[in-house]
Amino acid sequence: MAFSALLALVALAATVRAAPSHTAVCPDGSRVGNAACCKFIPLAKDLQETVFQNDCGEDTHEAVRLIFHDAVSISKKLGPSAGGGADGSMLLFPTVEPNFPANNGIDDSVNNLIPFLTSHPEVGAADLVQFAGAVALSNCPGAPQLEFMAGRRNAKAPAIIGLIPEPQDNVTSILERFADAGDFTPFEVVSLLASHSIARADKVDETIDAAPFDSTPFDFDTQVFLEVLLKGTGFPGLNNNTGEVMSPLPHGSGNDTGELRLQSDFVLARDPRTACFWQGFVDQQEFMAKSFKAAMAKLAILGSKRSELIDCSDVVPPTVRTPVRRASFPATKSVKDLELTCKQRFPTLTTDRGAQQTLIPHCSNGGQDCPAVQFNGPA
Ligand code: HEM
Repeated sequence: MAFSALLALVALAATVRAAPSHTAVCPDGSRVGNAACCKFIPLAKDLQETVFQNDCGEDTHEAVRLIFHDAVSISKKLGPSAGGGADGSMLLFPTVEPNFPANNGIDDSVNNLIPFLTSHPEVGAADLVQFAGAVALSNCPGAPQLEFMAGRRNAKAPAIIGLIPEPQDNVTSILERFADAGDFTPFEVVSLLASHSIARADKVDETIDAAPFDSTPFDFDTQVFLEVLLKGTGFPGLNNNTGEVMSPLPHGSGNDTGELRLQSDFVLARDPRTACFWQGFVDQQEFMAKSFKAAMAKLAILGSKRSELIDCSDVVPPTVRTPVRRASFPATKSVKDLELTCKQRFPTLTTDRGAQQTLIPHCSNGGQDCPAVQFNGPA
């Protein structure tokens, strides 16, 4: 064959590979890679309209937490009878797993999703949990658009107690649990904790509601990695809760509670096995989002074989395009307040203006009364 003909052939092969993968047209006119993904399009719309309301608020945060609590309930050591991973067992056995102490507060998201098992019966519980979390996250500025693989098998039994890490656990047991659940490396564990950038606690201190883990709980930004490295100065509520240590921004007013720090985040940020990974995400928005997306792709399919699932990532809504701010020291804090155990260079950051600790807003709209729904349900 002449050289030019060979070149033409290679070029053709490249064109074929690069051809658009959108091969099916859904009833709403959307083009997707696989017709089996069409059913998720009305589900995404429904979830947004009835639960998440395009807000990176409480209901969204809870759905992202549910991704984790459903998926991590699997164990190589204990075998399949311990739990099936991302298998929807939380929704299918709502009076069992949600009652485990480590799942305290998960009932809200379980009850919010259960009605979709009836309104969208073509989507199984296992896929619903993971898809809802991906749709929820699309409301958070700075978040990556998650991968979504469809076709998980639903749970036949609930998972056993004891598989969800707790904030009072030490680093060794946290890393061992993640390794046993899905071969997660210490880097991947820290990557997953980017989720705590959009997180607030209701149950760690029962006397305060929605106590944020960083000063920007409605943005998926790197601020949590910075703030967990600051010296703790006080508690937003009571000072004797299990799994909580002092935070650097404890002051609140009314519904604006001060920042709450989990002991597990504190120790992971300082342990020699994880400290440099933790510090390495400070002010590295893209790197953090990319690493989180990769680790979430692994988490979301625990219990299934990737080769048996269908890639429906094209039905995950694109993330809202509002830009996030660069990391900065909260007002009154500076490099002097850092507690660093990792010897690598720390980024140069500015300090927000103000003579006093600024309050962390209770709602994403800056108000006190946030849009939220709460369906009643069995959990
Ligand atoms: C060492 C591992 C982890 C521990 C010990 C832990 C612990 C906690 C605790 C105690 C809360 C507060 C619950 C409450 O009081 O309402 C929480 C909230 C949350 N966690 Fe984690 N978590 C871990 C890993 C993860 C992972 C891997 C994800 C997701 C990929 C995640 C997502 C969330 C979210 C989104 C919230 C906020 C929920 C809300 O605002 O309602 N967590 N976590």
